[in-house]
Amino acid sequence: MNLYKDAANLLKEAKNILVFTGAGISAESGIPTFRGKDGLWNKYNPQELATLEAFLKNPKLVWEWYDFRRKLIKEAKPNLAHLTLAKWEKILPITIITQNVDELHQRAGSKNVIELHGNIWTLKCLSCSYQEKNYEVPLKKIPPICPKCHDLLRPGVVWFGEALPEDALKKAFALAQNADVCLVIGTSGVVFPAAQIPYIVKETGGKVIEINLEPTPISEIADISFFEKASEALRKIDKYL
Ligand code: OAD
Repeated sequence: MNLYKDAANLLKEAKNILVFTGAGISAESGIPTFRGKDGLWNKYNPQELATLEAFLKNPKLVWEWYDFRRKLIKEAKPNLAHLTLAKWEKILPITIITQNVDELHQRAGSKNVIELHGNIWTLKCLSCSYQEKNYEVPLKKIPPICPKCHDLLRPGVVWFGEALPEDALKKAFALAQNADVCLVIGTSGVVFPAAQIPYIVKETGGKVIEINLEPTPISEIADISFFEKASEALRKIDKYL
């Protein structure tokens, strides 16, 4: 029995493949995850940094934290897991649905990427429709100000208690209903509605392959699980493609 070969065969036979990624895929690039041993939410309180209320109370503090994360992300490079997925996109019908805001999939060369939780390089106005992509690290002015209406600019990410971008979520759910395979990589699978995606694939007859360092709630519905680093598992599956 060779599960890597089985996973490769499922991918080769599929007409639609969804790759659902979380912070774990960027861990090997040196970007901290949210949960687990060195997770950000062990050190920082999300209620003080990742909610609209927190931002309105102390925009400087929240922006300093995002500025620190933008620096980490800018210095990071896509790892073998990101690069393997970008390579697969050329030979397989893949769409990546990511919860990550780091843009590392795109930097690795993936084109079909849906960002469910926004993008840390997007700045958007609290009041008007202004938004921009801004890769400055550190930001020149904290908090940044809207050039159009002079209200505060906020990070273009989804905070706790906020709705996901409607378009991205709709697309993601529609793709999930049609996917033959969902490859879940590096997510704890506890943040909804994003975490619904593998369940939708399973309920509509698709297969679920999971790659994570440890079991998650998604492991219960997974047809194949690999409990190891994302780069390792993808490298081994890649050999059979
Ligand atoms: P988490 O930090 O909750 O989970 C990361 C998962 O990756 C864990 O299950 C780890 O075991 C696993 N992992 C770590 N290193 C890995 C590696 N090298 N290879 C494979 N797996 C590895 O991150 P997410 O599930 O992405 O939301 O978190 C979901 C959301 O919660 C985030 O998008 C963020 C956060 O609050 C928002 O910002 C809205």
